[in-house]
Amino acid sequence: MQRIILFTGKGGVGKTSVSAATGISCAMEGKKTLIISTDPAHSLRDAFLIDTSPEPVKVMENLDVQEISTTDAIKKYWDKLKIYLTALMRSQGVEGIAAEEIATLPGFDEASQLLYILYYMEKGDYDVIIMDTAPTGESLKLLSFPEALSWYMERIFPISRKTAKVVRPFVKPFLNIPLPDDNVFQSIEELYSRMRDVRKILTDEKITTIRLVSNPDTMSFNETKRAYTYLMMYGYNVDSIIVNKIYSETSGNFLAKWRESQAIILRNIEESFSDIKILKVFMNDIEPTGNNLLMEMGKEIYGDLKPWDILSDLQPPVEFISKKDKSFIKMKFPFVSKEKLELHNRGGELIVQVENWRRVFFLPQSLSEKTPSNAEFNNGFLLIEMI
Ligand SMILES: Nc1ncnc2c1ncn2[C@@H]1O[C@H](COP(=O)(O)OP(=O)(O)O)[C@@H](O)[C@H]1O
Ligand SMILES: [Mg+2]
Repeated sequence: MQRIILFTGKGGVGKTSVSAATGISCAMEGKKTLIISTDPAHSLRDAFLIDTSPEPVKVMENLDVQEISTTDAIKKYWDKLKIYLTALMRSQGVEGIAAEEIATLPGFDEASQLLYILYYMEKGDYDVIIMDTAPTGESLKLLSFPEALSWYMERIFPISRKTAKVVRPFVKPFLNIPLPDDNVFQSIEELYSRMRDVRKILTDEKITTIRLVSNPDTMSFNETKRAYTYLMMYGYNVDSIIVNKIYSETSGNFLAKWRESQAIILRNIEESFSDIKILKVFMNDIEPTGNNLLMEMGKEIYGDLKPWDILSDLQPPVEFISKKDKSFIKMKFPFVSKEKLELHNRGGELIVQVENWRRVFFLPQSLSEKTPSNAEFNNGFLLIEMI
């Protein structure tokens, strides 16, 4: 069984170091492991003290490392789409568009990174794939991309495809906008179906778990809580939180106040994340770089645990419940206050919005005519009554 472990958290908390340490621990125990960095500010090379490339590079027995380049991925996967987009841009007076520029279009980064995951899962060379991601906001964008795309595809794409077929002969001479031909549609459709496959893999609790990396300080802890909420909302499985850079008793007088505030936040983390595994790592007196120090870090993080195991009992993020004549939707939804939550039923879709993040749930037939009447938070779960 292949495993994907994705690390997310605020910038600088130690995602790359923990990813590298996890990778080494897996490789040492005989698991064929790949660490992929999707953060454009790649730093796996600095953790391992090696030169990397957009292709996998061998670090040691059983361990490869790859720093993905979106430009590279676009060249590989997006030729047809690129040709169309280039034609479209030209028609609008934009000349000489290059892969680098297409890479800035929304969604391309995410799509090409996710395609890599699918590629490695299908190829099956690795037992464990570790994802070292960009800071929280970016990785949430990555993880919500398949859903966002499916929303777009279900609504806009079928229509525009039909329209294109019918109107192409008329529209072209008048508007001077090239319409995508069937080739392009085909590659968009293919992309769509591949994104559905990716989402299936990433939300399968037997394959993919997400690990939050935080430091015991207010800012990264708050960001971690928000990330946890949104990950639950998107149906992802979080199996642990790694609290990194804890100051030990030996860290001296200068850090005494820090140690006090870290202790308070650690208690808070223990209460807030009591349902998942909490792993702790001390601040090292030097940067954990190079195989030996990363190996030590791996031992410190996991102890007797197997890093590739699923580290806590996972509950299904969303359940549809019928009780007598009442229907409920129950979802894990920690750290949200009722005021921040918005719910609507729009023709069979339940829209759940918290601040900037929204998710559309396609309701089962039995609920599609009902509207949310009441919502209650209880123990980190949201219970929505549908009438
Ligand atoms: N436990 C630790 N002790 C000492 N330094 C650490 C520890 N964890 C990470 N670092 C250092 O902190 C910095 C940021 O870590 P990094 O793994 O690059 O974070 P991220 O990937 O989350 O941005 C790096 O210089 C790294 O070597
Ligand atoms: Mg990093």
